[in-house]
Amino acid sequence: MTGAAGFIGSHLAHALVQAGTVVIGVDRRDPGADPIAAANLAPLRSFPGYLHVTADLIGCAIDPLLIDADAVFHLAGIPGVRPSWGAQFSDYVASNILATKRLLDSAVRMRVPRLVVASSSSVYGATDGGPSVETDHPRPTSPYAVTKLAEEQLCLAHAAQSHSPTTVVALRYFTVYGPRQRTDMFAHRALLAALTGQPLRLYGDGHQRRDFTYIDDTVAATIAAATAPEAHGVINVGGGSNASLLEVIGIASSLAGRDIELHQESPRHGDVPITCAHPGHAHEVLGWKPQVDLHNGMRAHMQTLAAEPAVYSRAA
Ligand code: NAD
Ligand code: UGA
Repeated sequence: MTGAAGFIGSHLAHALVQAGTVVIGVDRRDPGADPIAAANLAPLRSFPGYLHVTADLIGCAIDPLLIDADAVFHLAGIPGVRPSWGAQFSDYVASNILATKRLLDSAVRMRVPRLVVASSSSVYGATDGGPSVETDHPRPTSPYAVTKLAEEQLCLAHAAQSHSPTTVVALRYFTVYGPRQRTDMFAHRALLAALTGQPLRLYGDGHQRRDFTYIDDTVAATIAAATAPEAHGVINVGGGSNASLLEVIGIASSLAGRDIELHQESPRHGDVPITCAHPGHAHEVLGWKPQVDLHNGMRAHMQTLAAEPAVYSRAA
C-alpha cells in the first residue's frame, strides 16, 4: 500500500496486519525524520507482517514492491483543498497524477488483480446540496480537486484497457476524521481548541456542511473494495454524519466542557458550501454502511488526542 505513514494509510495498514495480511507500506515521509510519520507508524512496529519502505513514488523502483501482491491500496498523495492554489501545485500534480501513472504502469506490468485508489468528494464541486451520486457530472472547484479527478480517471482508463489484468476501485472519501487526523483539518483543530483553549480559525460563517466519515468506517469500506468481487469504478465513501462546522464546534465544546473562542476569517477559495454522499452504491457493491455517528466518533477522536504524543497537538 502507498501513503502508509499518513492518517488514513496508517489506520488501513494496522487493520490489515491485525487481520493477518502481509503489508508492504510505502511512503516518502521518513519516520526517522518526521515526527507525525513516526507517531502514525508506531502501532505497526510490533507486527512482523508489516514492512515499511521509505520511498518517493515519483522516482522509486515500484515493480519489486508489487511481486505477488493481491491488491494495491493507493493512498499516497498530497491532500488538502486550500494550499493547492499556491506554489505547491506542482507537488500536487507530481504526487497525485504523475506518481499515480507510474504506480498504474507497474501494477499492470506486475499483473496485480486489484487497485483501490483514494479519490475525493471534492471532485463533485459545488452541488445543489442534494446527495451526490457517482454518475453526477464532476465540477471540481479547486486545483486539488482537479488533480484528484485526474488521478481517479487515469486509474479507470488503465483498467478499461482490454488487456488490463487490474481492476480499479476509486473511493471518493468524504472528509475523514478520527484519531491521528491531519493537523490541517477542521475536526482536529476544533477538538484541539476545545482541549487547550487556543482560538479556532473559522473560514466563513461556519454554516458549510460536510459528510464527516469516521476513520474506522473509511478503513472498512477500503478493505471491502479490495475484496468485493464485483467492485469496480467509482464509489462514494461517506454519508455517516452530515453536519455544519458550527455543529462540530458545539460537539467539541460539549465534549471538553469548554467554550471555543472563534477567530472568523473570510471563506477560502475552492471550499464548497456542502458535501453530501449518496451512500447507496457503496451499500450495494461493498455491503458497506457507516457505523459511527459524529458524536461518538468525535468522542473517540478527542480521547486519543488528549492521550496522544504532543506531536498531534501542534496545529499545522
Ligand atoms: P496524509 O497526508 O496523512 O497521507 C498521505 C501520505 O502520502 C503522506 O504520508 C505522504 O508522505 C504520502 N505521499 C505523498 N506523496 C507521495 C509520494 N510521491 N510518494 C510516496 N508517498 C507520498 O493524507 P490522508 O488524509 O491520509 O489522505 C490519504 C489519501 O486520501 C490522499 O490521497 C487524499 O487525497 C485522500 N483523501 C483524504 C480525505 C480526508 O478526509 N483525509 C478525503 C478525501 C480523499
Ligand atoms: C477534506 C480533506 O482535507 C481533503 O484532503 C479531502 O479531499 C476532502 O476532505 C474530501 O472530502 O474530499 P475539507 O472538506 O476541506 O477537505 O475538510 P477540512 O480541511 O477539514 O475543512 C472543512 C471546512 O472547515 C472547510 O470549509 C474549511 O474552510 C474549514 N476550516 C478548516 C476552517 O474553518 N478552519 C480551519 O482551520 C480548517
